[in-house]
Amino acid sequence: MFLTPESDGAPSAGATWRQLFDERACNPPIWSISTDKLLLDYSGVWRYRELILPIPEQYVVSRPEGNTGLYPVGIENCGAGRSGHRQIGIYAGLERLFLKHEGENPTGSFKDRGMTVGVTMANVLGAKAVACASTGNTSAALASYASQAGMSGIVFLPAGNVAGGKLAQSLAYGAKAIQIAGDFDDAMRLVEQVCNDLGIYLLNSLNPFRVEGQKAIGFEILQQLDWQAPDWLVLPAGNLGNTSAIGKAFRQAYQLSLINHLPRIASIQAAGANPFYRSYMQGFAKRESVHADTLATAIKIGDPVSYTRARRVIEESDGIVEEVSDDEILAAKAVIDRAGIGCEPASAATLAGIRKLVARGVIKHDEQVVGILTGTLLKDSKTGIPQEVSGDVIAATIDAVRGVLSE
Ligand code: F0G
Repeated sequence: MFLTPESDGAPSAGATWRQLFDERACNPPIWSISTDKLLLDYSGVWRYRELILPIPEQYVVSRPEGNTGLYPVGIENCGAGRSGHRQIGIYAGLERLFLKHEGENPTGSFKDRGMTVGVTMANVLGAKAVACASTGNTSAALASYASQAGMSGIVFLPAGNVAGGKLAQSLAYGAKAIQIAGDFDDAMRLVEQVCNDLGIYLLNSLNPFRVEGQKAIGFEILQQLDWQAPDWLVLPAGNLGNTSAIGKAFRQAYQLSLINHLPRIASIQAAGANPFYRSYMQGFAKRESVHADTLATAIKIGDPVSYTRARRVIEESDGIVEEVSDDEILAAKAVIDRAGIGCEPASAATLAGIRKLVARGVIKHDEQVVGILTGTLLKDSKTGIPQEVSGDVIAATIDAVRGVLSE
């Protein structure tokens, strides 16, 4: 159908879509009297349902999710009253920078967007049990949505490599957590086999419906920018599901004339978990895998399953793959945290990558850039955060406080 963007002045299918999505975004979420349809319109995923999964409403399993903040943090576009946020733009070296905080989703990461669609499909199929391998965020989202739908959730985790907040979520939401003596890549191989043998519905990003849901991050960013595509979209990359999903969303938005150019996509890997970067550096001549090692446990992945789809996204968007060290990740995280926004370590790879690409002159300092923060700071309260309050416990008196503040 709509294969090329329309020429200027022609009746625009893009305008019709924009109007539909904008009307839905304006529906106020009045919970007590709302119909299911209004709730769907309020979800930052199901608002775009025609482009994601057109399905009768009674099957949809939604919190709802999405509607996450898009923070203007560049030197120029950081408005009055946000001087603290401007520190991020200064660190990046960019005039116009936005950070999309997917940590503001119901379970604290972007995974909710794919999970609402994946669990909805499991619901349609009448699945009783769903499973995934995970570095922690997918499992937290699966556990939440499976419980909402009354299904059993089973999560396969690399033992000792899942941040405490994420593990706590999976357990609290009632999933069966199975710890593997191995890394994420081992867990991934195992869960595929388990799902095949035992007839359990697989909800890793190999599942195409998960990817369809994650496209909504891309649509929502475009809508928040009033359908003006940015020059660059930068995100952390592990299993490469998100790179695939965002790229697909932009491709679709372009084909439907929702936008008039494709943003360039930059996928950022941790240097100790960089198989995609290694392949990219050889012009994708060979699919690489590594034994992954990084303190950003969310992206500690050595053999990403969505390699082929993500490669296509980088190639067709004239994109780039970059790597950043753990020290660069921690430094960027400290900047995001101190600005009052906060994120988990893997998410900070975004800002570390942007800074590096700007310094290298790949991203120009006046280009418009959107970076994705994939998870909330609360997921991992250990890495890169002081573990103790400095100073002694003081008496509860004003004099004692004066003493501390004058130090
Ligand atoms: N950031 C965070 C916080 C993540 O949890 C993940 C992936 C990524 C980035 C990378 O996204 O895999 O689509 O390239 N987490 C998965 C999980 C692997 O199991 O939660 P990707």
